[in-house]
Order: sequence, then C-alpha cells, then structure tokens
Amino acid sequence: MTQHSDIPAPKTFTAAPALSGSVTVPGDKSISHRSLMLSALAVGESRVEGLLEGEDVLATAAAMRAMGADIQRDADGVWHIHGVGVGGLLQPETALDMGNSGTSTRLLMGLLASHDLTATFVGDASLSKRPMARVTEPLSRIGASFTTSPGDRLPLTMKGACPAVPLDYTLPVASAQVKSAILLAGLNTPGITRVVEPIPTRDHSERMLKGFGADLKVEVQADGTRIVTLAGEAELKPQNIVVPGDPSSAAFPMVAALLVPGSKISIANVGLNTTRAGLIDLLREMGGSIEVVNAREVGGEPVGDLIVTASALKGVEPDPARAPSMIDEYPVTFIAAALAEGRSVFRGLEELRVKESDRIATMADGLRAIGVQVEELEDGIIIDGSGGAPLAGGGPIATKLDHRIAMSFAVAGLVSKDGVTIDDMRPVATSFPTFVPLLQTLGAVT
Ligand code: S3P
Repeated sequence: MTQHSDIPAPKTFTAAPALSGSVTVPGDKSISHRSLMLSALAVGESRVEGLLEGEDVLATAAAMRAMGADIQRDADGVWHIHGVGVGGLLQPETALDMGNSGTSTRLLMGLLASHDLTATFVGDASLSKRPMARVTEPLSRIGASFTTSPGDRLPLTMKGACPAVPLDYTLPVASAQVKSAILLAGLNTPGITRVVEPIPTRDHSERMLKGFGADLKVEVQADGTRIVTLAGEAELKPQNIVVPGDPSSAAFPMVAALLVPGSKISIANVGLNTTRAGLIDLLREMGGSIEVVNAREVGGEPVGDLIVTASALKGVEPDPARAPSMIDEYPVTFIAAALAEGRSVFRGLEELRVKESDRIATMADGLRAIGVQVEELEDGIIIDGSGGAPLAGGGPIATKLDHRIAMSFAVAGLVSKDGVTIDDMRPVATSFPTFVPLLQTLGAVT
C-alpha cells in the first residue's frame, strides 16, 4: 500500500478571490471499496472506472490481493479485477494493513468472518483508537472469534467460521459499515441473512450486491425501517462499474464556493444517492444556491452536475434523524455555520466522536483557534456565525490524522483575515489526493 512520508506537511490557506471554473472530484470512497471487494468475489473479470485512488481504497486493494484476487490498473486508469469466487479467499500470509480506513477494516472483517481463515488487522494511530465491538459482536454470533486489543480495538485477529450461522440483526447504531459487514458475511453463509435498519444509512452495498447478481431484497416499512435480506452461498457475476464522484469530497468545493464572495463554480459528475445527499438539502435550507443539472443514472447510482453560487447563509438547527445522510459532511458544515448569520445548533451527533478523530472536539478546538464562538455539547455543537464577515484565522489546527478536519479548515482559510494553518495535510491523501490542485483550479491561491 502507498504510505505517505513520515514528515508532517503543514500548509496555510489564505483569503481567496472569487472562485470560478468547472471541476470534477475523485470517485466515491464507499463505492470504490465495495467495487473492489465484490469484484474480488466474482468469478471472471470486472472493470472499474473512476475508482478513487486514495490510500484508504488502496488498502482495500492490497488486502484483496493478499487474499488471492488479481487486481491491475491499466494505463488509462481502469482497474481490472479477477475474482476468486464467493468462499474462495485465501489465508493472508501477513497482517492486513488497513492504514486509516475504518471502512476497509469493518467491511473486510465481515467479508472474512464466513471464511475458513485467520486474519490480523492493523492500522494507524487513528484507526487503532476506533471501536470495533460494533462488528465483532454481531460477527461473533455467526461463529467468528476475535482476539482484540483492549477496548475491542485494533490490532485484532479474527478466526472466521465456515460454515457460518446466518444472522438476523437489528442495528443498534445507524451504521452502513456494520450493515455492510453483516451482509458481506452473509454472502458465504448458508441460509438467509437479515439486517433491520431503524434509521436508513447509505445503501451502496445493497445496490451493488444486486448489481452483481446476489439475491437481495429490501423492504421499507411504514415508519421508514428498512429490512434487508440476502440469500447466502451467492454466486457473483463480474461487472463493469463506473464510480460516480464522491459527494463527501464535493462538499469542500461546494461550501468554499458558497462562502467566498462572488464565486460561481460547477462540479461535474457528483453522486446524488439520497442516502448521501443530506448536505445539499441542508445548505439550501441555510440559503445556499446549489443547482443540480444533467441529472442521470450511472451504474445504478443517481448522478448530476452541481452549479454552486456564493450565497449569504443563515444558521440552522437540523433534525438529528438526517445525520446518516450527511455524516461525513458535518466538519465542513460547521465551517459554513461559522460564516452564517445567527446561531446553529447541531445535536444527536455522538457518532462523530468515533470517526477518524473525535470530530466534535477537534472541530470545536479548531473553530475556537480561528476566532469562532462555539459551545461543545456531548452530542453536538453550538456555533455563533459571523454573518458573512471573514473569520480571524490562525492555527496551526491539530488535524489528528483526520482528512476531513484538514480539508474543512482549509476551506475556512479561504474566508479568513490572517489565513488558517493546518498542522498536517498528509491525511488528505486517504480520500481526496487532488484536493489542493482542485482548489488551485478554482482560483483559490494556495
Ligand atoms: C461508510 C459509512 C460511514 C461513513 C464512512 C463510510 C461506508 O460510517 O462515515 O466514511 O462506506 O459504509 P458508519 O457506518 O460508521 O456511519
């Protein structure tokens, strides 16, 4: 796997002139991980176009290779994967290095839990602090066993169960990673695996499993609860996949263009799956001008081009129930709130405390450091906006190995008096390696 250098890369982002131009963002991280995993389980060759070539996804590719899949990238940037068939993964010879990637870790734990093999998962300092009980607990019920570090954390070793026992599980936490881990375990498990989701989360696994030919059904009840059933011992057929642009990456230029006065930009080919599109709805409610044009479907996912025009924003108090549809976008939403007119109150966000960093604390500390008035709550944050006036700026912001913290404060720097210094930009390579060049294309002097 590609590793970034050992030397931190601090960088200062300063006030930008009006942003303009048209850009594309790299492929969706969630869809990229899943496309490699499912292709590696299909019999025959799958092709993936638009794969995110960030460190997190490369960790998944390396792990699938270590377990027998043949994965090649051609000169045109198309990835070719020859799978081993469901149940055909081989015992990895060394520990699987998951880097910074929670998605690789939790989804692969699910995938391997129903295989007759033993695997050790290791990760960086951030990943090694993140809770894994949310997957080890249900996967233990199918017969897998785990030796974990204290607190159910990485490094951990898993012994898969084969045959595994099919699970009927109601998600105690709204998590697409947990849902996906259970469904992926179900692929090589005899019988029906059933996951009940009281609060809907991103549905890329369901869409892609169906696309690969798995027998998967989704029932939506009157109260919005989703019930997903998957028939095990599936046979997956190879696919041609086109990965849409990542809405979680598009969030950064989107907020930057809303905040930098006079800006008007377009972002082409952005995934608009409703389980991911909560940020667009919220920014519009705040007064943001975001137009979707050329809406279409690509590879089973809704996609469109966005036209974003600088707008005066007002504070909001969003309903916590919408959190899963924009869970990764809160850090940059807090920057938007810092420039809005009036107070914003964000609650019901305890999941943010267990992301790549504790995103409530990291954002609260960083916002204070650049002159924003905030109050940190156990489950959220209260932010008093500047009403469009530039933020004081400062830093260095402690990014705590969290790519989205680094990019959020970079956006803040574009609307600051003194600039905002980020202590380390290296984590950006996990999800958005072209972030700084993209800002340059839009005319932000960085
Ligand atoms: C992801 C699910 C979310 C999200 C993460 C990617 C996925 O995590 O934060 O970046 O690809 O399934 P949770 O499942 O923990 O909410």
